[in-house]
Amino acid sequence: GEITAVRGDLVHFTGSPFDSPVEECFVHQPDGVIVVQDGRIVRTGPAADVLPGLPDGTRVDHYPGCLVGPGFIDSHVHYAQTGMVAAYGDQLIDWLNNHTFPAEAAMADPGRATAMAREFLGELLRNGTTTAMTFATVHAHSVDALFAEASAVDMRIIAGKVLMDRNAPGHLCDDPERGYEESRDLLRAWHGRGRNMYAITPRFAPTSSPEQLRAAGDLWREHPDVHVHSHLAENTDEVAWVRQLFPDRAGYLDVYHHHGLTGRRALYAHGVHLGEEDFRLCHGTGTAISHCPTSNSFLGSGLFPLHEAKDRDRPVHVGLGTDVGAGTTFSILATMGEAYKVAQLRGRCLDPVRSLYLATLGNAVALDIDDRVGALRPGHEADLVVLDPRATPLLARRTERAASVTDVLFALSVLGDDRAVRRTYLAGRAVGPQDVGRGTPPG
Ligand code: GUN
Ligand code: FE
Repeated sequence: GEITAVRGDLVHFTGSPFDSPVEECFVHQPDGVIVVQDGRIVRTGPAADVLPGLPDGTRVDHYPGCLVGPGFIDSHVHYAQTGMVAAYGDQLIDWLNNHTFPAEAAMADPGRATAMAREFLGELLRNGTTTAMTFATVHAHSVDALFAEASAVDMRIIAGKVLMDRNAPGHLCDDPERGYEESRDLLRAWHGRGRNMYAITPRFAPTSSPEQLRAAGDLWREHPDVHVHSHLAENTDEVAWVRQLFPDRAGYLDVYHHHGLTGRRALYAHGVHLGEEDFRLCHGTGTAISHCPTSNSFLGSGLFPLHEAKDRDRPVHVGLGTDVGAGTTFSILATMGEAYKVAQLRGRCLDPVRSLYLATLGNAVALDIDDRVGALRPGHEADLVVLDPRATPLLARRTERAASVTDVLFALSVLGDDRAVRRTYLAGRAVGPQDVGRGTPPG
């Protein structure tokens, strides 16, 4: 296929800045070029070295003064909650009952699901997010709608039907058998078709019976290449409720572990109230956590102990998530800024290089998809974000006095949002909100 190229100041990772010194794993290539063919990265390097070797007439999208990196990954979000951000007044359990369940009930209408999927994908692209792991709703058609729309723009989406058979309105509940069968059928229909990936998605321990959790574990054992996606230890009342509902289990994480729902490709949102034993179990099983700082602050859930989770002796796979609609933004840049503030409130400092890692390669590793996305590695899918550190007057002013690329990244995380995203590429093609919902792939 045709060769194209993207030129700018490249930023990406070859390893984890939580494991090794920044200079060994963080690549900053001023005036670099990414060569793309058939949707994949074939080469990166300095413009002076790479450009002369390209065939005559090769299209080069040039972004002088911009940072170009792997597209952002959002490892925890709810597409059906796109329209309910900023629900006033409640913490987790009341927020679910008063705001979230009514919003998800509206998804019973398939037309609504398609409209919501389009709005959601548009917001991801506007914010430079090229891969998302998202909840759908209990309705099987909510998964069909999202995968169909994502396929039309060739975006990598990991999603699944919500499993929920108790402690929720009846019209939003399935039962263990139906939940299992619908999940299995959706998985067979969509997983591995194009860039779609399936996630077995029990909402959280309080809304699934032990029978439903067992069925979810059975399904995962039968299809070990798919993901598991749920919530864990977000709020103290929730943690106490789980202890009541599952008195025989050692704790919240043990409920999932007991039902065969821990391991590589299992990802749990929040983990705000996990302790040392839990982190050991996550480390030992490869279970990942999505840190969702804007959500945790908005719902008053607490301050995620990131530095403890990443303890060198038993590091846990951690990524960043927006958790919209409890999260307050689709912007991964803004989410990085909020992760910084949460670390500050815990008396710790989060290096912007580390938070960029969490948003890109760290999320890819957490999701076990780092063989395809998350870096600017030859063979990786050419999902890219172009960031303009002079996009707003305040950013421009701050970037002017930035001491290093690290400092520019910090400025972007504190002051940046969708306005700082100049372009988003999916599989080598520039794609924006205007391309969503047109029925055919762009280009
Ligand atoms: N726990 C169970 N369901 C949800 C949800 O929809 N959002 C958040 N933030 N936490 C949950
Ligand atoms: Fe969530």
